[in-house]
Amino acid sequence: MKFTAVAALAASIASASAYTVTFKNQCSYAVWPAMGKAPNGAVDPSFAYGAKLNPGESITWGVDNYALGIRGWGRTGCDANGANCATGACNGGMVCNDAGITAHALYSEYGYGDAGQWGGQRTYWDLSFVGGNVNIPGRLSSTDGASTTCTSNSCPTDQAYHIDSDHAAMRSSSISDNLTHTFCP
Ligand SMILES: *[C@@H]1O[C@H](CO)[C@@H](O)[C@H](O)[C@H]1NC(C)=O
Repeated sequence: MKFTAVAALAASIASASAYTVTFKNQCSYAVWPAMGKAPNGAVDPSFAYGAKLNPGESITWGVDNYALGIRGWGRTGCDANGANCATGACNGGMVCNDAGITAHALYSEYGYGDAGQWGGQRTYWDLSFVGGNVNIPGRLSSTDGASTTCTSNSCPTDQAYHIDSDHAAMRSSSISDNLTHTFCP
């Protein structure tokens, strides 16, 4: 009995430890998705992913439920090493070492929050192009059915942060929900 209880606890911790972010390329051109971590702008290079997606391809990466300052974005026109991209460029190659803080792209952003009696533990998420441009049209959607879409710099301010105070663009989901960033939705 005791062993069963311990095993069940371990299983519940493992399944609750991460949500997934899938990047899906519906564009007619290749997109190089990247993810990084920069809570309050401080780059933490221990979390960094990069890949190339041809049209129709997708890739999924895991994010710790309690992580803060996670961001993802797409790059276009990169070279054979995934470097020197035309848009969304970062320091590094296929995998960025600066969390794309100067990529000036449309980002999807993710972070843990606990609103206590007003909803408890949640994953907060949004689209944002503060200081940059919508380099690739994007949609961010949750497995609970919520989504935001921004296909140009003139998209509504409740769909993506244009400036830091556009809080109507913020969404949240249960920490067990997964998210999908679709390029060219
Ligand atoms: C999130 O993704 C994980 C891993 O693929 C899966 O086990 C889980 O059921 C997904 N959760 C939802 C709410 O779809």
